[in-house]
Amino acid sequence: MNTIRVSASRPYDVLVGRGLLEKTGGLAAGIVAPCKAAVISDDTVFRLHGLSAVRSLEAAGFSVTALTFPAGEASKNLATYGRILNHLAADHFTRSDLIVALGGGVTGDLAGFVAATYLRGVSYIQIPTTLLAAVDSSVGGKTAVDLDAGKNLVGAFYQPSLVICDPDTLSTLPREVFRDGCAEVIKYGVLGNRTFFEELETTPAEEQLEHVISVCVEMKRDVVQADEFDRGERQKLNLGHSFGHAIEKISAFTVSHGSAVAMGMAMIARAAENLGFCAPAEAERITALLARYGLPTEIPYGAEDLYQAARSDKKIGANAIQLVVPDGIGRCHLEKVPVADLPRWLAAGGAK
Ligand SMILES: NC(=O)c1ccc[n+]([C@@H]2O[C@H](COP(=O)([O-])OP(=O)(O)OC[C@H]3O[C@@H](n4cnc5c(N)ncnc54)[C@H](O)[C@@H]3O)[C@@H](O)[C@H]2O)c1
Ligand SMILES: [Zn+2]
Repeated sequence: MNTIRVSASRPYDVLVGRGLLEKTGGLAAGIVAPCKAAVISDDTVFRLHGLSAVRSLEAAGFSVTALTFPAGEASKNLATYGRILNHLAADHFTRSDLIVALGGGVTGDLAGFVAATYLRGVSYIQIPTTLLAAVDSSVGGKTAVDLDAGKNLVGAFYQPSLVICDPDTLSTLPREVFRDGCAEVIKYGVLGNRTFFEELETTPAEEQLEHVISVCVEMKRDVVQADEFDRGERQKLNLGHSFGHAIEKISAFTVSHGSAVAMGMAMIARAAENLGFCAPAEAERITALLARYGLPTEIPYGAEDLYQAARSDKKIGANAIQLVVPDGIGRCHLEKVPVADLPRWLAAGGAK
């Protein structure tokens, strides 16, 4: 088992190891005295992995309530959030009780926001069950739900008390969901770890899951520690996301997040090459690795659509957009690009 300490405003450990799900109860008892625990999960994940977590928590003396919702991003909204809060109140949960988020990023974001706001904050544990949640959303304390006007528009920075990551839970993931997570994994290599990128080139991620998750969590930990509240350094995690979000939006979210990020990364790598930031061979290796993991690298949308979607990104400020630009594999910089200059970047990225 690997233990990764995150020294954020609330310090906590991320535990990465096979078979940890069955030890949830004992691990939870290490951070809070046995109390009421609400296991929040989507119906798919609960069916597959809920019982292990619940049994283990009960064996350690917790009194467990399971709160489930239909799987999918559509559930990450104020209605589900409100329903869960009302359940907690009806069950007389107090500030010294515990929330357990068992699932992917949707569950983690939703349950985390519940934990951040119920009675002004109760402790919570993240148990990520998707690759994306393991390497990204379960660490760092960003919690949120979606509004009609867009994704993640209401939320809080609220760190968990513990993250339990059991790579065995990923074995039940649909292939496409696993592949989506690989886009984020490759992102970490491009962003700041050339050795890791090379490891992904030589050995498939699924054959080295514990290592892959640990490396990504350590990198995310470093970024979060440097910039917990997302004012600068943390923006580097948006590599591939500025164009990726635009692609998701144009597709009306029919292109998955991971596929969109892969396309966004391929685009920014090409743009970096064409604008002289990145050597052609390096940019080609980035695109080739994405393709090797079954991710798309060609963009099926036109430059004008991409421009309109990218300029309306919520992360755009004062008429400029921060692009994360690879200078090579393992090295990136933030480039403040005026909106007026975006078409040049999109064209350089291969948009027609
Ligand atoms: N908080 C953050 O820092 C952060 C970072 C990145 C993404 N996010 C958020 O994460 C969400 C996406 O996360 P996601 O891709 O994990 O989505 P998700 O939670 O919807 O999971 C994807 C699908 O996989 C299923 N699933 C999950 N674990 C499974 C398992 N072990 N076996 C079988 N099926 C399983 C789920 O039921 C769901 O249908 C988005 O809402 C995004 O905004 C948050
Ligand atoms: Zn992402």
